[in-house]
Amino acid sequence: MSDLSNSNPTHDPEWIQQMHADHYLQSWSKQGGKPRVIAGAKGSWFWDSDGNRFLDFQSQLVNANLGHQHPKIVQAIKDQADKLCYISPAMGSDVRSELAAIMNEITPSNITSTFFTTGGSAANETAIRLARHYTGRQKIVARYRSYHGATGGTLSLTGDPRHHLTRADMPGIVRMLDPYHYRCPMGHAEVENCPVCQGGPHLEELLMYENPSTVAAVIVESVVGTNGIIVPPDGYMQSLRETCDKYGILLIADEVMSGFGRTGKWFAVDHWDVQPDIITSAKGINSGYVPLGTMSVSTDLHDWLRNTPLPGGLTYAGHPLACASGVAAIRAMQEEGTLAHATEMGSLLREELHKLAQKHPCIGDVRGLGMFNGIELVKDRDTKEPLVPYGAKGVVAKPMNEMMSYAMENGLYLSFFSNIIRLTPPLNISHDDLMIGLAILDRTLDIADQAISG
Ligand SMILES: Cc1ncc(COP(=O)(O)O)c(C=O)c1O
Repeated sequence: MSDLSNSNPTHDPEWIQQMHADHYLQSWSKQGGKPRVIAGAKGSWFWDSDGNRFLDFQSQLVNANLGHQHPKIVQAIKDQADKLCYISPAMGSDVRSELAAIMNEITPSNITSTFFTTGGSAANETAIRLARHYTGRQKIVARYRSYHGATGGTLSLTGDPRHHLTRADMPGIVRMLDPYHYRCPMGHAEVENCPVCQGGPHLEELLMYENPSTVAAVIVESVVGTNGIIVPPDGYMQSLRETCDKYGILLIADEVMSGFGRTGKWFAVDHWDVQPDIITSAKGINSGYVPLGTMSVSTDLHDWLRNTPLPGGLTYAGHPLACASGVAAIRAMQEEGTLAHATEMGSLLREELHKLAQKHPCIGDVRGLGMFNGIELVKDRDTKEPLVPYGAKGVVAKPMNEMMSYAMENGLYLSFFSNIIRLTPPLNISHDDLMIGLAILDRTLDIADQAISG
């Protein structure tokens, strides 16, 4: 217990840190640490109580797609708060209907209706339950390099090390390998020769063993986010779609990170003209200002739901404050040409990263789509031995941790996963800010170069 009083909140930085350490439980962490206290944020920057400024090169949890405190989103929340803060999900509300109509407009043409949730986990949880009800089948195919959420079902779907925390996985998950062509899981040099990197052939083989008539859905992140920004080869998503169609299996595209302009299109599947049966999203829909997620479904599913109750619900489904912020964020993106800007800045970012790769031997791979980018660090480019092993933490992850600290001390907020640095700035970042971030990244990478040379 702290000796600072919590009955007399002073809100000074020391009090905030102490109460955080003593009484706040932090996601995925050992407790008791004292956090950096954030005093404010604007655009691509945030700052702490000591006045240190940080360029947000990860858009917080890859959700602040329009940066911090976007005035149009903030105003919409204020206006909605004045008008109607909450009304039951079964009631009609202007912003709820407007956001549902906008989702119909911007999702692929087969997707026509949306269930609003409080975030990505609830969207995916509802999606897999719906898929099971609709098909009458139980199994769900999911990949290893994936994160789908923190609820019972979605943490079981998740393939990254966090799924070991479920203690008892939800039954019926079948694991598929990832189209990770930089390190092809089958050891092929060319995508064309690889059943995994092509998608459909690998799925076919799994289905042969599993019996396709027991499989309800395949769920994939259209572009893998947390687990290292893996963009599937062209043809991969189409190939999954075809195989799913052949066996009456639903295709669920988890676009919680990759949606809402992150890849330069509304949804990453738009790059390949693929029509999933269900798209889930959250995060960038409203830049995370109010909790909001979506599960959008095809006309076929919607028609089926006209006669069968939706197997899911939430007190905060279609929350007016969240819907108002979603409407404002999407309209702002349309008015401000955000998708085109993200495409342009994303190309520039990758060009600059390729230049950094010429200078820094630690860079093994540069990859990404739009503003969804990553660099993979290696000890040796020829062997591709990772700078730190998969899932490394603590002393094993030393060079990565040192880079993270150095970047932060020098004003750059970056995100790391194993040996991968993710670069996901706000979609509306300015050219100048992008170059500032790259200059700090350049110096940060010296740490990895030193680690491999000595
Ligand atoms: C691809 C993906 N799916 C689902 C989730 C879970 O979303 P939430 O944390 O909003 O529940 C995340 C969160 O990072 C994610 O990246």
